[in-house]
Amino acid sequence: MSDKKTSNQMWGGRFASGPAAIMEAINASISFDRKLYAQDIRGSIAHSEMLAQTGIISAADQEKIAHGLNTILKEIEAGSFEFSTKLEDIHMNVEARLADLIGPAAGRLHTARSRNDQVAVDLRLWVKDECFRVAEALKGLITALLERAEEHAATVMPGFTHMQAAQPVTFGHHCMAYVEMFARDLSRVRDAIERMDESPLGAAALAGTSFPIDRHQTAKALGFREPMRNSLDSVSDRDFALDFLAMAAICATHLSRLAEEIIIWSTPQFGFIRLSDSFSTGSSIMPQKKNPDAAELVRGKTGRVNGHLVGLLTVMKGMPLTYGKDMQEDKESVFDAAETLDLMLAAMTGMVSDMTVNAAAMKKAAGSGHATATDLADWLVRTLGLPFREAHHVTGRAVALAEEKKVSLEKLSLEDLRSINPGITSDIFSVLAVQNSVKSRTSFGGTAPSEVRKQIRYWKKRLAKA
Ligand code: ARG
Repeated sequence: MSDKKTSNQMWGGRFASGPAAIMEAINASISFDRKLYAQDIRGSIAHSEMLAQTGIISAADQEKIAHGLNTILKEIEAGSFEFSTKLEDIHMNVEARLADLIGPAAGRLHTARSRNDQVAVDLRLWVKDECFRVAEALKGLITALLERAEEHAATVMPGFTHMQAAQPVTFGHHCMAYVEMFARDLSRVRDAIERMDESPLGAAALAGTSFPIDRHQTAKALGFREPMRNSLDSVSDRDFALDFLAMAAICATHLSRLAEEIIIWSTPQFGFIRLSDSFSTGSSIMPQKKNPDAAELVRGKTGRVNGHLVGLLTVMKGMPLTYGKDMQEDKESVFDAAETLDLMLAAMTGMVSDMTVNAAAMKKAAGSGHATATDLADWLVRTLGLPFREAHHVTGRAVALAEEKKVSLEKLSLEDLRSINPGITSDIFSVLAVQNSVKSRTSFGGTAPSEVRKQIRYWKKRLAKA
């Protein structure tokens, strides 16, 4: 490309020649901000209506403008619109085409407006819509987890700390832990929507405008609660995008933890679950293999989402008020994080709904590793009145004896146990079985099936209103 180009139609008045090819390439955002076309047109129509109602432009011009913008919307949706890099971004692409279509009236649309408030309102509208999509997807995932939890409220599995079998829990309880996490993600989305529900439109370049505009009208027309109260903040704020990315990063991190567990559970060594064929792949060389690719990709894509949060934080950290072109870098992070998160949520919902749970393997594993040692210690405290520290010590000796005899704790004989503490009676066996262990944990939020069912009922009711 040569440097000698015709000057830019929109701001090229004072340039003898067009921007150099490199400048054009670094400056243009149309390759990605075309995604904002619908929001841009919506914003422009609302702005033009307000301009007409306040008498800043004529009703006839407004009608032409709205008609032209709707034609452009159709052209873009039909794929017949020609985007031009020379016109930099979506805003100027649309406005240039509007001029082609309706002539001089197009020039009146940008009265009392700047691309600075225009891009701010476009991206806010887009992010707000995406937040509603994420909320729906989260509700779908939570529903899938609730179903599995209900099915397996009493299915015993080992609970882990340090990745070592710690105490028996139920699979339903484990699923409900993720329900809690994703429900908090949902509340983060709702909070983010609440905060971003203010319109920046009408802040103009940065200082507001001398035209008698009505910012409340445009805010309302675009579905915002109210206009933003400071014009400088309106054009320079991107924390609504950061709110979205922070929520996305936390949610992706939750998804990644569940993906990691799915990967571990589906190994032949664990065998707790089997993924459906739709969410796994075979190996091209090892015929026995079934790989949890979808789960691995959920785990892997988390890196991207988290990276986008750090990326935009870094773009924003050195920005003096108000707008700087750096801020054009906000969009790709947001778009990619959104697309990635949507896909991750859909894949996880599919995996959770379709996986087969091997309750027998879970139960077998729950019984190994002397997982009911704490129950033995608690029994000694409750029944024999031992101080917990001493009970802990007695139990440690019982575990050592079981290891020596190569049996699990519950398989020790009464004589064996009495050789450690003569006060022990056969009643001890009622707590050593894993099923009884989980049944006894009835404290609020505990793993007892009765408690898990209570929590399921709570979330079903809450989700209907979420
Ligand atoms: N494409 C620009 C962006 O994404 C639009 C705003 C341009 N404003 C300006 N003063 N150059 O940020």
